[in-house]
Amino acid sequence: MTQKAFIIGHPIAHSKSPIIHQYWLGENGIEGGYEPLDIDPKDLPAFFKQLKLGTYIGGNVTIPHKQDAIALCDEVTNEAQEIGAVNTIFVKNGRLFGSNTDILGFLANLDAKAPDWDKQGHSAIVLGAGGAARAILVALRDRGFKCVHVLNRTKQTATDLCAQISGPFQAHALEDFEKLAPEAHLLVNTTSIGMHGTKFTGMDLKRLPKSALVTDIVYTPLKTSLLEAAEAAGLHTVDGLGMLLHQAVPGFEAWFGHRPKVTPELRALVEKELGL
Ligand code: ATR
Repeated sequence: MTQKAFIIGHPIAHSKSPIIHQYWLGENGIEGGYEPLDIDPKDLPAFFKQLKLGTYIGGNVTIPHKQDAIALCDEVTNEAQEIGAVNTIFVKNGRLFGSNTDILGFLANLDAKAPDWDKQGHSAIVLGAGGAARAILVALRDRGFKCVHVLNRTKQTATDLCAQISGPFQAHALEDFEKLAPEAHLLVNTTSIGMHGTKFTGMDLKRLPKSALVTDIVYTPLKTSLLEAAEAAGLHTVDGLGMLLHQAVPGFEAWFGHRPKVTPELRALVEKELGL
């Protein structure tokens, strides 16, 4: 029987995951499917119930279902619990296993593009304190970072986030960048700034050490205003598209039994689809 996987969201048409998984299916000669499904939030419980019947081997979960999926799975990994979001599901013997692959995606992207990025030192600045920041904080903690400063426009949100996740996290306002930058080995943007021509103001990246790495999880545009400023300051940068590609690897491997590769060809294909 042909194994099929899905991605659910609402809306779903914008998702590039079908392109990634269909590319891997074709590249590896695997007879399988990967289908985008638009599921209205009110239909989510019924969809999960039906999943147990085994029509699909598993799938991905995207906005706005990532949080609600937790309670609908039979088992959820500690990482997904901690982040508060499930993005990958595996169906086995009528049971639903939920995980979150964003941590792996973030780390694998940096490992691939900036080997030794985590050997320079273990102090980081994370911009933003929303849903996307959670996975980055857990990833940095698990990679041995000793000090992670979370800077947010609304400082209270950063304070709340730092209290919710155990780890070496400290909350600050965005304005504290000047003061904290000279000690930071890594700067990560998890906010939506960089999309639609938006940019951070009053953030002098020259304050960072020359060896610091700057990365952004926004990938439209590929070169965000933050990455542009970092390059201008002579700093090493990694864009966010690789995180999208790498976070898809564990799901494909679980469903189709083959560990796929993130190749320049795949990246070029997704860049083209995104119009980058
Ligand atoms: P996501 O789940 O994608 O992280 P989110 O939960 O809405 O999205 O979080 C968005 C993050 O981007 C927040 O940290 C937000 O800051 P606030 O908590 O102050 O809202 C940040 N953000 C969004 N627009 C911003 C802007 N124009 N300037 C500074 N920070 C911004």
